[in-house]
Amino acid sequence: MKKWILIAGVCLGNTAFAQNEITLQADKGKDIINKNIYGHFAEHLGHCIYGGMYVGEGNTKIPNKDGVRLDVINALKKLKVPVLRWPGGCFADTYHWKDGIGPKDKRPSMLNVWWGNVKEDNSFGTNEFLNMCEVLGAEPYLSGNVGSGTPQELSDWVKYTIHPNGSSPMPELRAQNGRQNPWHVKYWGIGNEAWGCGGNMRPEYYANIYRQYVTFMTNGDPKEKIFRIASGASDNDYNWTEVLMRDIPHNMLDAVGVHHYSVINWNKKSSATAFNEEEYYTTMQRALEMETLVTRHAAVMDKYDPNKKVSIAVDEWGGWYDVEPGTNGAFLFQQNTMRDAMIAGTSLNIFNNHCDRVKMANLAQIVNVLQAVILTNEEKMLLTPTYHVMEMYNVHQDATMLPLTVKSNDYKMGKEKLSAISASASKDKNGLTHISLVNIDASKEQDITINVSGANYSAVSGRILASDKLQNYNSFENPEKIKPMPFNGATLSGTTLKLKLPPFSVVVLEVK
Ligand code: AHR
Repeated sequence: MKKWILIAGVCLGNTAFAQNEITLQADKGKDIINKNIYGHFAEHLGHCIYGGMYVGEGNTKIPNKDGVRLDVINALKKLKVPVLRWPGGCFADTYHWKDGIGPKDKRPSMLNVWWGNVKEDNSFGTNEFLNMCEVLGAEPYLSGNVGSGTPQELSDWVKYTIHPNGSSPMPELRAQNGRQNPWHVKYWGIGNEAWGCGGNMRPEYYANIYRQYVTFMTNGDPKEKIFRIASGASDNDYNWTEVLMRDIPHNMLDAVGVHHYSVINWNKKSSATAFNEEEYYTTMQRALEMETLVTRHAAVMDKYDPNKKVSIAVDEWGGWYDVEPGTNGAFLFQQNTMRDAMIAGTSLNIFNNHCDRVKMANLAQIVNVLQAVILTNEEKMLLTPTYHVMEMYNVHQDATMLPLTVKSNDYKMGKEKLSAISASASKDKNGLTHISLVNIDASKEQDITINVSGANYSAVSGRILASDKLQNYNSFENPEKIKPMPFNGATLSGTTLKLKLPPFSVVVLEVK
């Protein structure tokens, strides 16, 4: 691995032979990058909820608000988490929400059969989750139990969380549990991975079940819109999307999910930290497949919904490796390196560029599970490289996407090649333009020229996330090894921006 030195944001190293060229059409923006593209996912899995976000109301060792860790709350507020999906994942189709309300000592326990058969004591339930979302300023996204639940159970959950006071027994139950006013939950998932852990259904059967469940998910106030998300396809199962779009009336459907993990091989996922360049390359191939997946699922949807009323929610995405040595195999706890920063930067660029159809995405998962933004260990907490990418990119939330084209050098591995450069851009409400750039090449710096049309800029600044080894990560001993730094390496001359991007780095430029 080459040694790279970062001095005041300027990188010294070998320069790639060719120029990468980006053409940015600064006056052609029309689609909004829905902030929910920067969404997250929290499942009752390992130490995501218990020990990660929630440490219990009586905890005197770890500072908390109503049992939720204050350090996690503060970090997530800074991240501007727009939407949080809960309680699963596979767990959702085993979850009976009424077990998780009322006095905690009366709540029944169950075995978490998907994730290690550990005891789930239901101490973190609907009230705890929805109150936490209020504290975070995040919209809740509840995943309903379709696999082992009933339409009545899901209908009751809707009433418990959004119907007005005194309108039926469910809001009364809410009031008895100390909450008078509804939480106004907008986002609802109708099951999870119905083709697999959610019930092993065929798409035609799921489409029928979906129609049945949705019929009884009634809003209490006609002005209150429920956004219904169908359990979507795994990866490239385009037939799943086709059947859902064909068989579900579109006035019953607001989004179709898609799940895609960047995994090298499901039978041999390899270490999260001790990986070689070939493994890195394969991970990036998987991550960049997202471009094809989104394009082709969207093309299927275009056939049935040319006006793009129904959106795509990529409600699970991210890197998936072997668990850290010595940890419970069912808890999916993995470290997070610069490789994960590359997955995050390129995936978010893809979602931004497809924001006409992709209106939500949820990184799996928020704390201590898979490609987490936060890791905790007792009272210690750290922010991962993925956190930093999502924080740097949050300038795109609800901004107008600016179209761009990228002519990129190749990042080669044997006979295979990937584009080294990935990019997206947007203009925010204050008129600032942000351009996010990723160089996935493991060893070559990239010279980039950005030709702008339709705007006259006078100043450029930026931030960079880089490190000297792809395998580097933030540890509890050294939690700030990788963090964003000011980037002064871009120059502006007329309508041309020029910069050099170090190997495996992410830069977000601000131009005005
Ligand atoms: O995120 C972990 C698991 O991956 C989820 O529970 C499931 O939906 C997916 O298969």
